Amino acid sequence: MPKFYITTAIHYVNDDPHIGHMYENIVADVIARHRRRMGDDVWFLTGTDEHGQKIERSAAKEKILPIELADRVVKTHHDLWKRLNISHDDFIRTTESRHRVGVYELIGRIQERNPGDIYLGEHSGWYCQSEETFIPENQVKDGLDQEGHKVEQTTERNYFFKLSAYSDKLLKHYRDNQSFIYPQTRMNEVVSFVEQGLRDLSISRTTVQWGIPFPGNPDHVIYVWMDALTNYISALGFGSADDKAYEKYWPANVHLVGKDIVRFHAVYWPAFLMAAGIELPKQVAGHGWWLRDNQKISKSLGNVVRPYNIIDDFGADPFRYFLVREMVFGQDQNYSDEAFLGRYNADLANDLGNTLSRAIKMSSDYFGGKTPPTPCDDNDLLLAAEELIPEYLREMDSFAFQRALDVAWRLLVAINGYIVSREPWKKFKETGADESLSRIIWNVLESLRIVWTMVAPVMPTVSREALTRIGADPDLITKDALRWGVLPNNRPVRVTDPIFPRIDTVAYIGDPKKMSESQTPPPVETTQAAPPDLAKISIDQFMGVDLRVAEIRAAEKVEKSKKLMKLTVFTGDSERTIVAGIATKYTPEELVGRKVVIVANLQPAKLMGVESNGMVLAASIDGEPSLLSVDAGVPAGTKVK
Ligand code: MSP
Repeated sequence: MPKFYITTAIHYVNDDPHIGHMYENIVADVIARHRRRMGDDVWFLTGTDEHGQKIERSAAKEKILPIELADRVVKTHHDLWKRLNISHDDFIRTTESRHRVGVYELIGRIQERNPGDIYLGEHSGWYCQSEETFIPENQVKDGLDQEGHKVEQTTERNYFFKLSAYSDKLLKHYRDNQSFIYPQTRMNEVVSFVEQGLRDLSISRTTVQWGIPFPGNPDHVIYVWMDALTNYISALGFGSADDKAYEKYWPANVHLVGKDIVRFHAVYWPAFLMAAGIELPKQVAGHGWWLRDNQKISKSLGNVVRPYNIIDDFGADPFRYFLVREMVFGQDQNYSDEAFLGRYNADLANDLGNTLSRAIKMSSDYFGGKTPPTPCDDNDLLLAAEELIPEYLREMDSFAFQRALDVAWRLLVAINGYIVSREPWKKFKETGADESLSRIIWNVLESLRIVWTMVAPVMPTVSREALTRIGADPDLITKDALRWGVLPNNRPVRVTDPIFPRIDTVAYIGDPKKMSESQTPPPVETTQAAPPDLAKISIDQFMGVDLRVAEIRAAEKVEKSKKLMKLTVFTGDSERTIVAGIATKYTPEELVGRKVVIVANLQPAKLMGVESNGMVLAASIDGEPSLLSVDAGVPAGTKVK
C-alpha cells in the first residue's frame, strides 16, 4: 500500500486559529481524505509551535507561564479542528518530550556528520522580531522589512548553522526535483533567493528562556526554525526507541504551508536534513493568503477573521466548501461573509441541493420510495461521467481543488440538462414507471452519486447524508466509488428537508451579531445608534476627547482599498493625514474644501500602510457613512463640544 505523509505548518499557540490556519488544515484534510479513499496509507500531522519570544511575551503580558498559555490555547486548536472535521492522525506540540528527543537527535546527527556545521559565533544585523529572523540588508527599507515589519540592529552571540555551505547542494536539488516546491512561482522565488547566496543561520538565543535548552550549553535555547521544523520527524518518533512511524512514513510527501514560510521549508529544512544525512521531503506546497480588504489576515495586523458564526449556523461542510472553492491554490483571496453567503445559496442550496431533492423526489414518486429497478450503462450521462472522473482526479492530484469542484459542477449541469431533455414527468404520465423511465431516473441518481462522491473529501458529513438519501452506500469510500455503475437498485431513498436550506442573505447580513469576528480597526469611526445599556461616561471623560473642526485640503483613494480615503486636513495651525472609510460614498472632488469634525487626539494607527492621525466623524446608515457637516463660516481648528 503506498504511504502518504502530509503535514501542515505547526501554528503558533499564542492566539486562537484564524481563517488562514483553518484553510491550511482544511486543504490538508481534503488531500488526506482523498488519498485515503484512493487506497494510500495516509499519515496526517498537524500541531502547534509553542516556543519562542512571541509566546513568552504573550504569557508575560497575562502574568502566566508560557506553558499555561500554550495549554489553554492548544485547546482551542483541538476544539476547532474537531468542529471542522479535520481528520489528522497526530497532533504534535513542540513542548512535548518526544519533540525534544527528535530535536536533540537531529542536532546530534549534524554535529556527528558535519562537525563544523553548527558553531558558536557572533552575528550583527537587522533582526525582525515579528518574523523571528535576521533580514538581509537589501530587504530593509526605512526600518521595515519587505512585509512591513519593524526591524532593529541586533548583535548576538549564539549558535549558527552553516547554511552558507548548502547553496549549491540546494540549487542542485531544486534542479533535479522540479516538483520539490509548488507552485512554480514559489520555486522561482526560492531559487533566486538561494542564488543570491545564503547566510549562516542563527539557531539559538540567550535572550529568551522559553525553548529547548541547547545540548551541552543550557544558557542558550534552540531558536525557532531548528526547533519548529523538526516537528515533522519528532512526531514520528525520530530519535526515540520507537521510531517505527518514522521508518514507515518519512520522507513526507507534502509539507503544506503558507507562502510566507515556504522559504524556511524549502531552504532551511532541506539544509538541516542534508547536514544530518536524512532524506528530504518530496514536496513543499505553498498556499496563498486569505486577505481582508487586500491585506493579509494576521494577528499582527489586527485584522483576523474567525467565522465561528458561519460555522455554527451552516455547519463545517459549507464553510469548508467555500474556502476550497473560492481560493485558487497558491493565490491570495479576499474573505467576506457576503461571498460565503452568495456561494452557499448559488452553488449549494441551488445547484447541488435542489438537484438532489428533485432527483430523489422523482425516484420516490415513480418507484415507490426506492431507487429504480433497472440500471443503465449506455447513455449521455455515463459518457459525461467517464470523461469527467479522470479530469477530476487529475485536478485533485495537482492541488487544483477549485477546478476539481468545478468538474463536479459540470457533471451537475449535465444532469440538469439530461432531466430537462428527457422530461421524466411527461413519460411517467404517458407510460408510467416503465423500464425506460427506470433507466432515466437511475442515470440521474447514479451521476448524482458520482457528484457527491467527488465533493466528499471537501464535505465529508453532508455527502454521507446525501449518499444515504440517494440510496447509495455512504461507507463506500474507496476509489471504486468513483466509477459508473455502483448505485444499487430498489433501495429506499429519503425525501426530506432540503440538504442546504436557502438563506435570506439580506436578513443574515443585516444582523450584526451574525457577522464574523474581525478585529479590523473600523475604517470609518461612525456613530452607531447607541445601545440602551452603553456605559455612561463622565463629562471629564468626554472632555478628554479633542473634537475639532478641520478643513479637507486634499483627498485620494487608498490604493487597493474600496473603502479607505486618505485625507489631508487642516486643523487651524497645521496639516495632518487622516484615513477614513468613506470612499464608497464620497469622491475626492466632493471632499476637498469641505469642513468636517475630527477627533484630534487619537493615537496614530496604520490603515493599509498609511498612518492615520485622527478620525473623521460620520453617521452610519446601514454601514454607509454620512459625514457630519459644519457651517461654512466656522474656522478650521475650532473646538467642538
Ligand atoms: N509556527 C510557524 C510555522 C512553523 S512550521 C515548522 C508559523 N505559524 S503561524 O501560526 O504564523 O502560521 C501557520 C500557518 O498559517 C502558516 O503556514 C501560515 O502561512 C498560515 N497562515 C497564516 N496567516 C495566513 C493567512 N492570512 N492566509 C492563509 N494562511 C496564512 O508560521
